[in-house]
Amino acid sequence: MLIRLRRNRQTEAVRRMVQETTLTAHDLIAPLFLIEGSCQRVPVMSMPGVECLSIDLAVKEASHLYERGIQALLLFPLIDPGLRTEGAEEAWNRSGLLARAIREIKDAVPELCLMADVALDPFTSHSHDGLVNAKGEVLNDETIACLIEMALMQAEAGIDFVAPSDMMDGRVQAIREGLDEEGYQQVGIMAYSAKYASSLYDPFRNALGTRLKSGDKRTYQMDPANVREALLEAALDEEEGADILMVKPATLYLDVIAKIRAQTARPIAAYHVSGEYSMVMAAHQAGYLDAAKVFHETALSIKRAGADLIITYATKYLLDQM
Ligand code: PBG
Repeated sequence: MLIRLRRNRQTEAVRRMVQETTLTAHDLIAPLFLIEGSCQRVPVMSMPGVECLSIDLAVKEASHLYERGIQALLLFPLIDPGLRTEGAEEAWNRSGLLARAIREIKDAVPELCLMADVALDPFTSHSHDGLVNAKGEVLNDETIACLIEMALMQAEAGIDFVAPSDMMDGRVQAIREGLDEEGYQQVGIMAYSAKYASSLYDPFRNALGTRLKSGDKRTYQMDPANVREALLEAALDEEEGADILMVKPATLYLDVIAKIRAQTARPIAAYHVSGEYSMVMAAHQAGYLDAAKVFHETALSIKRAGADLIITYATKYLLDQM
């Protein structure tokens, strides 16, 4: 036998030397759920190990994560049901929970890259990502006007990247132009480009209270059956000025990541979503598998598929293994 592939697997040293994919803290983006109050830490029942934090504790968590090498946070506010309206006006409240959190975290840890979703679902009474008319249709262009306002609010507060997650057509360009007109050329856009209408977002929606009362998001989020359409979405977002393209969810869509990787020179982020996290945690709690190992393997597979960045609730498990 001339060729014995096992030679390159014999020792830890060789295995490390020939490792094709590596994982570092810089690859990870940590989502953070925000609540009102002070010294508040509320566990998310649907996501074991994940907590909603009041701004003061979020600031501490942000500096802790930064010390451990995390470069970016993705912020999500839990909005009081009393503030949620048909018109989602709270989404651009300059003194709302999200605006205050951005300002305070930026103030305390200015080096950290702050990102936040741009979509109306935490702020609408019905939990759709856009405005809805009397017939129940989600309105594209009317919603975009709101998204621009929301992006400007975040930019004023000090956000580094806005992350449109709404899947309205044309929103990346509109947000880019809106930001530029107000002098926020340096604020980046991480576009949820291929965001699928997935069953894996339920633990997140339970956490933020954004479960739809009826219907689904299939008129704007993508059909899980499609991949050519994802390439179109990614190409359009790139043309419209997106700085980072995102695929979401991650593990059931590794083929989508790989195909977009082949088509773009832009950085790709993959969102390892709540359902992907909670499935593993449930199995871990039942004693069926080891969450830390599964998360490590998962993160490697997402990078191997071609993603540069991974948005994941498993940052602590992953950092402990680096
Ligand atoms: C809001 C948004 C969702 C997620 C991120 N941003 C939910 C949705 O689209 O209904 C899901 C994240 C996760 O499940 O971890 N548009």
